[in-house]
Amino acid sequence: MGEKKVTKKWIRKSYRVLIIIGVLAVIVGIIGLYFGGPNEEVIPNEIKNNKTKTGYDARTGFIEDDGMQTVINNCTTCHAAELVTQNKMTKDGWLATIRWMQESQNLWELGDNEEVILNYLAKNYAPEDTGRRAPLKDINWYVLE
Ligand code: HEC
Repeated sequence: MGEKKVTKKWIRKSYRVLIIIGVLAVIVGIIGLYFGGPNEEVIPNEIKNNKTKTGYDARTGFIEDDGMQTVINNCTTCHAAELVTQNKMTKDGWLATIRWMQESQNLWELGDNEEVILNYLAKNYAPEDTGRRAPLKDINWYVLE
């Protein structure tokens, strides 16, 4: 009889501890929602650099900016716009791609439009300059005892 009572008491105590842990978890969760916000590093470059202030071209998905129409006129006749928009390159990289298409894929001479196209692509489809998250630094490793 006496032993049963002790067990009951212990169970009641455990419930109380569980409830306190649960309440704390909810509080921590709410604080996390308030202050966590979207992770800065996962915001795409185009949005971070405010290049989307005028949005995307509805038909092709190109970022609207100076030179977009020239790019659409010259770069979407042979293949889908996505082949361009899914790439990210430096200006040199885009020039090399254009030269490669001119040499092997019958892309025409672009003349004065080449500089317009390269500037548009290098600005709006540049390589990401940051990873998802910077590597951890200055970690104080310690030995578990
Ligand atoms: C005369 C046809 C033609 C035109 C015009 C053209 N391309 Fe291409 N492009 C191609 C072909 C063909 C491929 C290869 C497609 C494939 O691999 O499926 C290609 C591939 C590409 C690729 C992918 C390259 C890779 O390494 O995967 C990119 C990026 C690209 N083109 C960008 C452009 C841009 C920017 C323009 C405008 C200046 C343009 N293309 C205009 C024919 C063309």
